[in-house]
Amino acid sequence: MIKVNAKHILRDVDMASYEKEVARVHSLIEKRDGPGGDYLGWAHYPETYDKEELERIISCAKKIRENYEVLLVCGIGGSYLGARAAIDALNGLKGNDKVEIIYFGQTLSPSYVKQVLDYIEHKKFAINVISKSGTTTETAVAFRLARDLLERKVGKEEAAKSIFATTDKEKGALLQLCKKYGYERFVLPADIGGRYSVFTAVGLLPMAVAGIDVKAFLHGMQIGLERYGVEKNNPAYEYGILRHELYKAGYPVEMLVTYEPSLVQLGEWWKQLFGESEGKEHTGLLPDAATFTTDLHSLGQFIQEGSPVLFETVLDIEHPACDVIVPHDVDDLDGLNYLEGKGLDYVNKKAHDGTLQAHEEVGKVPNILLSLDKLDAEGLGELMYFFMRACAMSCYLNDINPFNQPGVEVYKKNMFRLLGKPGYTK
Ligand code: PA5
Repeated sequence: MIKVNAKHILRDVDMASYEKEVARVHSLIEKRDGPGGDYLGWAHYPETYDKEELERIISCAKKIRENYEVLLVCGIGGSYLGARAAIDALNGLKGNDKVEIIYFGQTLSPSYVKQVLDYIEHKKFAINVISKSGTTTETAVAFRLARDLLERKVGKEEAAKSIFATTDKEKGALLQLCKKYGYERFVLPADIGGRYSVFTAVGLLPMAVAGIDVKAFLHGMQIGLERYGVEKNNPAYEYGILRHELYKAGYPVEMLVTYEPSLVQLGEWWKQLFGESEGKEHTGLLPDAATFTTDLHSLGQFIQEGSPVLFETVLDIEHPACDVIVPHDVDDLDGLNYLEGKGLDYVNKKAHDGTLQAHEEVGKVPNILLSLDKLDAEGLGELMYFFMRACAMSCYLNDINPFNQPGVEVYKKNMFRLLGKPGYTK
């Protein structure tokens, strides 16, 4: 169970006063009759996911692992952040798995794109192109370039066998390409939006190629549904209420804090989930993320003494995957023998306690504490589901549709007009 600790938020919150609101929002999620209700397919996905497709994902991943050096994951936003977050969190940042995962299609930077193309030119690579619409410019352009390189290397027919697509079942430009060239295809269900799609083929195929036990991850989602899909005694809803209260109390920024560098991308996924879901109609918390103790040496000063705009949500992993012991040194010139024999986890946790005291008691920064027993595939699945439920609760408390992103279209339309895309020139 993910524990939510509200003892450090510097105020009392009357949870009982939210009973009616929670019942209302819970019913909107369960009955799917609130704004965006058509996109609630993720909420009961543990019960509805396509078991046959899961087996196909696992065997396709095995084939990719056995036959390729690199998998190019070509997608942007919700079409890649979940997989990236999970792969970093579970495999670490210095993994030396035999298949290298490279993220592509998430930028228009010519330098990055060229670097990747030059790098993969002499590697045996496969492509997993992920796009629900199939028309997202960043992804579509990158896919065209990667496909072109692959076809020049191995020919059109062989290339088609190395391309795996995840897209809508019934419509879109990518679906048309799949049909024409016969790419193996996986489905992003119509009732699930990108940022809620990590449990679908969008997240699962790259994760399985990275060697992650996707069945355990899905089991975590199932546990999540049992624990956070209920109206009462629901820690995910409690977290949603606490952040809502802090927003109302005048804190417009929430900073997600972890003490694990391998969770930086989880912070990126979390930022998209909450930012794109909640930031509408000139309301909503600005989601930010930081990694401690690293960022205590950069942002720490601002958090402690800068403008009082933010609260922290600190995610603790109670039992890390491993530990490292500080060794004895005969000379002790660095003065560290007082830590001799101690694990770095112990030191990290003391840094956590000291920081909490400093930020809360001196800096007067409210802290919500979340804790997870351990971060394995199952735990991560549970955590991601927890955040998705909390996000839906937060948005509906503000009467915001959690599942659309109308604001994102504004830049796209301008860019298309400036680029002279047919249909956008006026
Ligand atoms: O969460 C979302 O809906 C978005 O971030 C999309 O995933 C992102 O814009 C990519 O869209 P598409 O999958 O259609 O290429």
